[in-house]
Amino acid sequence: MEFNFRVEKRDGGSKARTGVLHTPHGEIKTPVFMPVGTQATVKAMTNDQVLHAGAQIILGNTYHLYMRPGHELIREAGGLHQFMNWKKPILTDSGGFQVFSLGDLRKLTEEGAAFQSHLDGSRHMFTPEKVVEIEEALGSDIMMVLDECTPYPADFDYTKHSMERTHRWAKRCKDAQTRGDQALFGIVQGGMYPDLRKRSAEEIAKLDFIGNAIGGLSVGEPKPMMYEMLDVVTDVLPEEKPRYLMGVGTADCLVEGVARGVDMFDCVLQTRIARNGTALVRNGKLVIRNAEYAKDFRPIDETCDCYACKNHTRAYIRHLVKTNEILGAILLSIHNTRFTIRLMEEIHGHIEAGTFGEFRREFMDNFRL
Ligand code: GUN
Ligand code: ZN
Repeated sequence: MEFNFRVEKRDGGSKARTGVLHTPHGEIKTPVFMPVGTQATVKAMTNDQVLHAGAQIILGNTYHLYMRPGHELIREAGGLHQFMNWKKPILTDSGGFQVFSLGDLRKLTEEGAAFQSHLDGSRHMFTPEKVVEIEEALGSDIMMVLDECTPYPADFDYTKHSMERTHRWAKRCKDAQTRGDQALFGIVQGGMYPDLRKRSAEEIAKLDFIGNAIGGLSVGEPKPMMYEMLDVVTDVLPEEKPRYLMGVGTADCLVEGVARGVDMFDCVLQTRIARNGTALVRNGKLVIRNAEYAKDFRPIDETCDCYACKNHTRAYIRHLVKTNEILGAILLSIHNTRFTIRLMEEIHGHIEAGTFGEFRREFMDNFRL
């Protein structure tokens, strides 16, 4: 078996744990933050820069890569690892989430999601079987099942039917898998209804995937509601398998997610806000384009070990951002990615040392949005 997850150390005062996930492209220490590389690139960063930021695994996206350059082209290149020359593990999201964001351009049926391309209007259909075929062509280490990310808010009946269809799709994805060197993860849905979340976690756990993801969160609901759903779900999902909270990556949610037993996270925020001139710092963020940094000759973060902080000042980076120089986006992407991975490394260290509880309290006390 090329996949194996081992819990290493459990925190005494919460559900936090450290672990190691083995994949065909190497091992991943958890809890882990996974930078997002939607189009076979972590935006504005070279692979070397992503590696130096400490990334152990990156994400790719089925929907985008199916559209351009096409999964058959990537298959021909020898898979996504070869195509983009990334040697560490890759996780691919199923495309469900992106297709559902297309709004009027898509239609859901029991069979799957029919949609029109956002590029040229051409018609396509993502069924569970098709999505697995695409993810197998991409050759990712971890493939996600096709699901429906239930919108927020949604009434109980809609949420229940959507969740049940997601369960049927999960089973179909499992049956469609033909390769043994890729792990398929299930996805829990259930909206903001604790009883549905619990049932979804039970049903997905029963399908016995290699890992389990939690979807449909951070979709506009208040944070306490997300934490409540997380608590319900991680009480049900098996302890001995990795848990992945999809699309969540603000620092406070990372700390609170880990405290609730989550092992893996991804988020576009780090690189997205970098491209509009915002840097992540310990107690929240610095809008580096603001006038107050014009003559600030300190690094973004004195304690950060990234290339941007080691070499450049806030004033210089602000200048780059104000003049729309691409180096501004590059430096901020490097910093925000490193900042988030360093936070995960710190969390890892505190769980191992038995000091995660104190760390969590102090971190949350100092964090402002
Ligand atoms: N990314 C963020 N949330 C979700 C979700 O609910 N499903 C999928 N497939 N991807 C996501
Ligand atoms: Zn930095």
